[in-house]
Amino acid sequence: MAKLWGGRFEKEPDKLLWAYNASIDFDWRMYEADIHGSIAYARGLKDAGVLTPDEAKTIVDGLGIVLGEFESGAFVFAPSDEDIHTAVERRLHELKGDVAGKLHTGRSRNDQVATDTRLYLLGKIGSSLEKTARRAVSTPDGTSFLSSGDDAEPKTPHRGASTGLRGLVRDLQDAIVDQAEVHLDAMMPGYTHLQPAQPILFSHWLMSFFWMLQRDVDRLDALTHHVAVMPLGSAALAGNTFDIDREMLAADLGFETVSQNSLDAVADRDFIAEFLFWAALLQTHLSRMSEDLILYATAEFGFVELDDAYSTGSSIMPQKKNPDPLELARGKTGRMVGNLVALLTTLKGLPSAYDKDLQEDKEPLFDAIDTLEIELPVLTGAIATLKVKADRMAAALGDELLATDLADHLVRRAVPFRESHRLVGQAVRRA
Ligand code: ARG
Repeated sequence: MAKLWGGRFEKEPDKLLWAYNASIDFDWRMYEADIHGSIAYARGLKDAGVLTPDEAKTIVDGLGIVLGEFESGAFVFAPSDEDIHTAVERRLHELKGDVAGKLHTGRSRNDQVATDTRLYLLGKIGSSLEKTARRAVSTPDGTSFLSSGDDAEPKTPHRGASTGLRGLVRDLQDAIVDQAEVHLDAMMPGYTHLQPAQPILFSHWLMSFFWMLQRDVDRLDALTHHVAVMPLGSAALAGNTFDIDREMLAADLGFETVSQNSLDAVADRDFIAEFLFWAALLQTHLSRMSEDLILYATAEFGFVELDDAYSTGSSIMPQKKNPDPLELARGKTGRMVGNLVALLTTLKGLPSAYDKDLQEDKEPLFDAIDTLEIELPVLTGAIATLKVKADRMAAALGDELLATDLADHLVRRAVPFRESHRLVGQAVRRA
C-alpha cells in the first residue's frame, strides 16, 4: 500500500492499526467538499505562482473527473485510502500523474479536514450561504465549475419539501401552521402539572411548538456564521508559506471570513459543538411535542389520531395503533445529547493544534445530521396528516376549567383577588 506519508517509515502499518486509524468508512461522504476545496486551492496555488496555468487546469480537470466518479458511484476505494483527502489525491494521481503531487503544496490535512467539515456542514444546513458557496467555485481559467441556487432566499413564505436542515425545520413549522389554521375553532383543556387548568384553543397549543422551532431556526442562522470561517491556509499549524491569497480562497468557497490564528484554526471544533447543541435542543423540542401528541392520542384523551401512514401495529394485539414515530423522536433525544457530550469530552484537555483525537468529531456530527434528515420529514408528515377530534376536546372541557374566569369576574366586581380565589375554591369544593 502506497501511503502519502510513507517516506520516513521502514515498515507497513499493522493491519488492525490501519483499520483503527482510518476514517474513510465515514468521512468519504465529504467528497464534494473535499474536491471543491481542492479546486479552489489549485486556483490559489496558480495565483501564487506555485502552479502554472496548465498544471492548475490539469489538476482541476482531474478533480472534476474524480467528483464525477463519486457522483455516479464509479469511484473505487483502494486499501491505502486512509481518509477522503488521501483517497481523492490518490485517484487524482492515477488520472493525471505526478502533477497531482503539487496540489498539497503548503496545505496539510489538518487545515483541509477542518475546511471540508465546515463546507460539508454548511451544505447540510442549507442556508443561503451554501448557495453562494456552490455558485462561487470557479476553475483556474475563470469559468464556473458548478453552479446552483438562486441569488437570494425566496421572499415568499417558506412552503414545500426542503433538503437542507434549515428548510426541514421550516417545513415542520409550515405543517404546524396549516393544522392550526384549519382548526381555529377547536377548544381544548390546557394543562399544567398535567391537570386540567384553563380552556385554550387547540391552535394555541399547537403553535407553542412553532415558536420553539422558530428559536431553533434563529439559533441555526446565528451559528451558521461561526461555521462559515475558513481555516484553509493554516497548513499543519504554522500557516501557509506560499503567499496563498486566503481572502480570495474564502470568497471562492463561499466562506464569510478567514480564521485569524493558524493553531486555533486547525484545532477549532467549536462550530461542531455549537451545531450539536443546536441539534440536541431541537431534538428536545421534538421530544416534548411528541410526548404531548402521544398522550393526546391515547384512547383516554382521544384529542388527536395519527394517520395510519404514521402509525405502526402490534405483532400480537390486533387492535393496537402505536405512535412509534413520536416515541422514536422522544427516544432519540438520548443519542442527540450523547453526541454533544461525546464531542465536548473529546475536546476537553486536548493540547494545542491538531491531534488525532479530533477525527472523533465526525461520527457524532454525521449521526446528528442523518437522524434529523429523516426524523424532521417524518414528523412533518405526522403533523400534516393528524386527525384532530374537536368533539373529544370539547367533551373534556369541564365547568371547573372556568374557575379562574369566575374569580376574575368577581375581581371586576371589586372583590380582592385573594378573596375571590378563596370563594371560588369553596364553590368548587361544594360542587
Ligand atoms: N482523517 C483525519 C481527521 O479526520 C484527517 C486529518 C489527519 N491529519 C493528521 N495529521 N493525521 O481528522
